[in-house]
Amino acid sequence: MELPNIKILDEKDARLHKVSEEVTFPLDEKTKQTIYDCLDYLEMSQIEEIAKKYDLRAGMGLSFCQIGINKRIFVVSEDNGDGTFGRYIVINPQIISHSEELIYVGEGEGCLSVNREVDGIVPRYARLRLKAYNEFGEEYEIRVREDIAIAFQHELDHLDGILFTDRIDKKNPFKNREKMREI
Ligand code: NI
Repeated sequence: MELPNIKILDEKDARLHKVSEEVTFPLDEKTKQTIYDCLDYLEMSQIEEIAKKYDLRAGMGLSFCQIGINKRIFVVSEDNGDGTFGRYIVINPQIISHSEELIYVGEGEGCLSVNREVDGIVPRYARLRLKAYNEFGEEYEIRVREDIAIAFQHELDHLDGILFTDRIDKKNPFKNREKMREI
């Protein structure tokens, strides 16, 4: 597989700090292809030998604003551990409900647009139910939990121009850690 031509913006770029716009359907072919390219890119970034070859950082989620398109679209790629990947295409998402329980990534969250070490806790809901549209304009409902729930919330934030670093308390990066479950 050839590496898709995806150029990921750095956190300093203004387009990462804007609220993205709702998508109207039908999507044009180019937008659909960009969605598939983003997923291919994420999968390739998670395969060690390919990541090494192209010098890619591993990522499981990508929002369109990160490639300079301020539309409410994100994708998440889940390594199933058997050489296959689960693909999530999420357009115009809306949260229906979420757990009370909060979790956080113990080793810290990462983002393909943030090319530095960032210490601190990002509180996320452990479980999430949302509705969204796929690339064909079909509405669906989905429940996500644990690491996928975190990936979804990270990407939902991107659609509103929020980076995970914005959610870390600067004065007390590990604030309220005891109230959340580490994953
Ligand atoms: Ni990100």
